[in-house]
Amino acid sequence: NTILLLNGPNLNLLGQRQPEIYGHATLNDAVTLARAACAEGFGIEAKQSNWEGQLIDWIHEARGHAAGIVINPGALTHTSIALLDALNAFDGPVIEVHVSQVHRREQFRHHSYVSLRADAVIAGLGLEGYAAAVRRICDLTG
Ligand code: DQA
Repeated sequence: NTILLLNGPNLNLLGQRQPEIYGHATLNDAVTLARAACAEGFGIEAKQSNWEGQLIDWIHEARGHAAGIVINPGALTHTSIALLDALNAFDGPVIEVHVSQVHRREQFRHHSYVSLRADAVIAGLGLEGYAAAVRRICDLTG
């Protein structure tokens, strides 16, 4: 049982980028937390890309193979119908995670295309959001 943990543009810079918003912990720390939250019998496949098409290809590859997808699409959240379409072609649960509380930020971060597909949306829990999302997918699919 594999959970695909996807991170989009600029999340490779977690810990260095705007730490007053995103904190000092790194993407590796997030993956470690997600792995620790994983139930018996589940594994995490963690991937990050700054490229929309790469994320879409990975979602296609997850079809028929991953139990669920945890995704922080970064700024593509607010722009990408293509990412939404790819997630709509995936059958399992999808949980959208944002490290920051996007609804307290600029207006353009308040709308998410991905939320039209997501079974749950987590914003503002910091890295704990990834762990909560993984626990939920284990509960839903285990
Ligand atoms: C983010 C929020 C997005 O608005 C932003 O573009 C990001 C990160 C978050 O994790 O809080 O890159 O998805």
